[in-house]
Amino acid sequence: MELKLITSNRHKFEEMNQKLKGVVDLSLYNQAYPEIQADTALDIARNSLTTLVPLIDGNFCIEDSGISVEALKGFPGPYSSYVYRTIGWQGILDLMAQNPQRNATFVSVIGLYWKGDIHMFQGSCEGTLTFEGKGDQGFGFDPIFVPDGHQLTFAELDMETKNQVSHRSRSTQLLADFLRK
Ligand code: IMP
Repeated sequence: MELKLITSNRHKFEEMNQKLKGVVDLSLYNQAYPEIQADTALDIARNSLTTLVPLIDGNFCIEDSGISVEALKGFPGPYSSYVYRTIGWQGILDLMAQNPQRNATFVSVIGLYWKGDIHMFQGSCEGTLTFEGKGDQGFGFDPIFVPDGHQLTFAELDMETKNQVSHRSRSTQLLADFLRK
């Protein structure tokens, strides 16, 4: 069975593809779509999925993700992509300077259009923010996030290790469980 992942982010594709090997034939499909502004990744993903239904042939999915910093009341959350493009992870570290409360959570929502129906899968990963960026693997906020149970940032871990605990690996696991049924 084939499934298109609509994204321009190769890292998202590679992480999800590693989890979905043997379950579905995932392909990267680069089609731009508007993203609404809303308070939750779930609302954003559901809206994007509905917008894409008339534009894409066959089964497809999208993935919407972000990081919420507890001391910043959940910021940047649904604005993660914009914040990454503007102030970047260094900007988040600057906002957090001297703050000892460094809990943060990554959230990933996968919206699936499968045989005419819409399904949503959500995964999260808790951890802490570092005081400086470390590592050069992965993307986005990876250099400043250490997942619980590890000592290294996502950017210092190889993809396989990140994929054992990450928000995206958890939402993708739920997608895999659904597709296997
Ligand atoms: P979107 O899902 O493409 O709208 O954007 C999500 C944004 O959140 C990305 O631009 C990244 O900056 C950040 N992000 C999401 N997932 C990850 C991850 O696994 N590692 C690091 N940053 C992430």
